[in-house]
Parts: sequence; structure tokens; C-alpha cells
Amino acid sequence: MANESLKQQVATAALKYIKDDMTIGIGTGTTVHYFIEGLKNYRHRIDAVVASSIDTQNKLKNVGIPVVEMTSVNQIDLYVDGADEVNPHKQLIKGGGGALTREKIIAYNSKQFICIVDETKCVDILGQFPLPIEVIPMARSIVARALVQLGGNPVYRENFITDNQNIILDVNGLDIMQPIALEGELNQIPGVVSNGLFAQKTPQTVLVAKNNGITEV
Ligand code: A5P
Repeated sequence: MANESLKQQVATAALKYIKDDMTIGIGTGTTVHYFIEGLKNYRHRIDAVVASSIDTQNKLKNVGIPVVEMTSVNQIDLYVDGADEVNPHKQLIKGGGGALTREKIIAYNSKQFICIVDETKCVDILGQFPLPIEVIPMARSIVARALVQLGGNPVYRENFITDNQNIILDVNGLDIMQPIALEGELNQIPGVVSNGLFAQKTPQTVLVAKNNGITEV
């Protein structure tokens, strides 16, 4: 079955988690795009929506769903987002779309985090997908050298600036056998804003679309 169809199916499955008067956080990416499409049918039932990127904010506005700032929200009830990789412990690599920092802020401040993926994202060990790291522009070379020291091969994401006006280094070759420790270690490098490992805070639920249906992890 085509990937797009699987993405649509898993996004539709996540709509069932919406309850009346919820404040909902919305991730970024092609899978979430289908969730936004479905969300327009729920817009009169939900209280508020927070977006993890300008791209998502625009998509929400296009379907008539007003977006509120994170600063005006006390608590997010439900956060729905995709991922680039998911391991059996529900630890993730995210940031393929470059929105990792805002995504992590929302994930950490949501009562319930549901990750929606198609089966191509499921791996035993994280790291085939290059790990995105958001970096303050002036620290680009310093951070890149520190990443090489850790065994990584950082690649500057060309022609890309994050919504926070920073750059992204996509890092190949890191040993991600201990994702929780590595997530913390990477954050200690001065100049790193955040990294795409979501291991310290994982989703409560991962919905995986397979050819024979949706599996809940
Ligand atoms: C955005 O920065 C990412 O974290 C996305 O959640 C991730 O890249 C998954 O995107 P797709 O649904 O487009 O694969």
C-alpha cells in the first residue's frame, strides 16, 4: 500500500483521541498534514490549537482552525505528531522538517502525546535517519567539531533556517545505543538549542499504520 495512504490512515486513527474542549498541540510534517485535514471536522468541539511550526500554523489557518500562542495556554491536553524513526521503546528521532525544538517544547508540556507513523519509520535501533540538531548560527563550526568528537558526521542543512532563526546539522554515524544519555549529552554542547532525540520524554502511544491495519504500541 502506498505510503501516503498509510499516513492518511494513521492520522485518521489519531482523530479518535480528541475529546470535547481539548487544547491540542499539532506537530509538523506530511503525516500530520492528514491529521490537520481531518481536524477541520472537529474544530467546533475543541477549545484551542497550538502549532509546532509556522508551516503547521499556515495549514491550520487554511482549513479555518485558529491557532493560539503557546504563551497563552496553561496545559495542552493532547499532542499529535509524526516521527522520522521509532524504536520498540517508543523513543524517537524527529526533526526531519526542522521543527524539533518547538515540537519538543510542546511534547514536554502535553498531558498526552500520540505519535503517528507508517511502518517504514519503525526501527530496532535509532540512527539510520541522520539526527537533526538545531544550532545557534555562530556556533555552527564549534558544535560540528564537538559532534565529530562524539563519532558523528555532521552535515549542514543547506538553505534552511528554522522558525527560531537557527541552523540545522544533520548528523550521521552517531552510536545511539543509549538514546536517553545521548540526548542529554548533546544538549550540553554550548550552541546546541535542542536535538531530535525524543528519548527522555516519549509518547504514551505510538500508532503504526501497516498494510493490514493500525497497530497501537
Ligand atoms: C518535523 O520536524 C519532524 O519532526 C516530523 O515530525 C517528522 O520529520 C515526520 O515527518 P513526516 O510525517 O513528514 O515523515
